[in-house]
Amino acid sequence: MKNKSRLFTAALAAALMATTLSWAPVHASEGGLKSLRGAAIQAPETESADPFKTMKDSAPIERDYVQQPPLIPHKVEGYNVTMKYNKCMDCHSWTRYKETGATKVSLTHFKTRDGQELSNISPRRYFCQQCHVPQVDAKPLVANKFKPAEGIR
Ligand code: HEC
Ligand code: HEC
Repeated sequence: MKNKSRLFTAALAAALMATTLSWAPVHASEGGLKSLRGAAIQAPETESADPFKTMKDSAPIERDYVQQPPLIPHKVEGYNVTMKYNKCMDCHSWTRYKETGATKVSLTHFKTRDGQELSNISPRRYFCQQCHVPQVDAKPLVANKFKPAEGIR
């Protein structure tokens, strides 16, 4: 028993070290940012001094392809999603959207992974920012020539 747990601890330590090592180059030694494909990239150029400052609230942003989760066109600071409370649904739920002027979440968001239709947000859609992201006023880090397919724009 004792041996086993010692072995486990050793394995865990090795795993932790491997993780730390694999991250190390990104941090100190090279000092720069790298894209997933390995190209060196610059920190984003922004109009404001704070590169993480979200864009000011705007009208919905045009989607680039049919199944795209729409981008969030407003600030989200302080909009917490916890186990008990989902701030996003305060405005985007079907019972609230009329008063708040927000787009209501689509019906697709009520379906469970087994295809069952619920009367409220499905657990797999609960954490909105898994898919919907706010925008900063910055140039893209990596150039992108994506064009949606003809016929389903
Ligand atoms: C205080 C109310 C409020 C809260 C809270 C809120 N929103 Fe919104 N949201 C709006 C309004 C209003 C709009 C529509 C803006 C417009 O039409 O001009 C909007 C628009 C959006 C859109 C764009 C919809 C489209 O069709 O393009 C997304 C996505 C979105 N919000 C996601 C979120 C997420 C995710 C959260 C939580 C982190 C959140 N919102 C919290 C009010 C809110
Ligand atoms: C797993 C990814 C995912 C999650 C999580 C998710 N969404 Fe979406 N959302 C999408 C996609 C994809 C679309 C566009 C297609 C559609 O309507 O299903 C969408 C569409 C929307 C729209 C536009 C609806 C319309 O009629 O045009 C709103 C508003 C929205 N989501 C809000 C939310 C909110 C609020 C949450 C959290 C409670 C959330 N979403 C969670 C992927 C997601």
